[in-house]
Amino acid sequence: GTTLGAAAAETGRYFGTAVAVNKLSDSVYVGILNREFNMVTAENEMKWDATEPNQNQFNYTSGDRLVSHAQANGMRVRGHALAWHQQQPGWAQNMSGTALRNAMLNHVTQVATHYRGKIYAWDVVNEAFADGGSGGRRDSNLQRTGNDWIEAAFRAARAADPGAKLCYNDYNTDGQNAKSNGVYAMVQDFKARGVPIDCVGFQSHFNSQSPVPSDYQANLQRFVNLGVEVQITELDIEGSGSSQADSYSRVVRACLAISRCTGITVWGIRDTDSWRASGTPLLFDGNGNKKAAYTSTLNALNAG
Ligand code: G3I
Repeated sequence: GTTLGAAAAETGRYFGTAVAVNKLSDSVYVGILNREFNMVTAENEMKWDATEPNQNQFNYTSGDRLVSHAQANGMRVRGHALAWHQQQPGWAQNMSGTALRNAMLNHVTQVATHYRGKIYAWDVVNEAFADGGSGGRRDSNLQRTGNDWIEAAFRAARAADPGAKLCYNDYNTDGQNAKSNGVYAMVQDFKARGVPIDCVGFQSHFNSQSPVPSDYQANLQRFVNLGVEVQITELDIEGSGSSQADSYSRVVRACLAISRCTGITVWGIRDTDSWRASGTPLLFDGNGNKKAAYTSTLNALNAG
């Protein structure tokens, strides 16, 4: 393949990117998007604060724009994210207990119903585990509604859009550590009890403090062995030149070595599109030129 999407497709996988809908008027951005990618994730436009700014008043304008662009250009859509402790609308941040639980479930149901049939996979729950050594849940207003909030969200999403794959998505779970052990135990428990879960997303935000782990592939594999698909959902790697290129290639090779690692998404197109305040973590420079990391990623896909 001569593009990321085409090369990934030859292995039965997708290659996606996060998209900021307000950049769809930038011709350089859209040119790269339409040429290289066959999956898109809304960077912010499908989150709770964007889609339900006031309780029970839903706004799908930006999310729908992304879905239309994807459909018109032969791309699929990953939905991101139905339930998360961040980017909640103010009204939800001020809620607790049963009222918050019901508001969250209503949100999951409404949004998943609106997009029914149009989403390849939903990040149903995002970032619910704590950093550090506990392996437990992160404290949040959602967690304080009861430990079963995650499975309740997954059941609501399945009922609303039975055709979408339902994923749990998190960061710092890319290698085997206390946090990924906690997620692993949850997925094992969900599978044992028939809670609907189809996939686990590994965000894979890497930098010098948190490089591509040596046991990345082994960690992905142990999740696949539980009976879920895995996907790399928000890839970016700080750095430059050949060391960054090597790291990207390691990530691609780890995914391609696992048949049920079904796709890779980078978290933005050009370095200047990145959520990171500074740095050069993506595959295209600020002018839209291909970096060494682009070439190593494409070569690794074509070798797979
Ligand atoms: O939309 C407002 C705008 O009205 C306002 O003028 C402006 C001024 O601050 O802020 C705008 O909102 C910003 C939004 O991005 C859209 O640009 C928020 O402040 C900013 O916090 C938000 O950042 C996003 C971040 O999630 C929020 O947690 C990033 O774009 C987005 O890349 C990032 O993505 C997350 C994933 O969803 C989950 N995993 C980690 C990843 C990186 O942090």
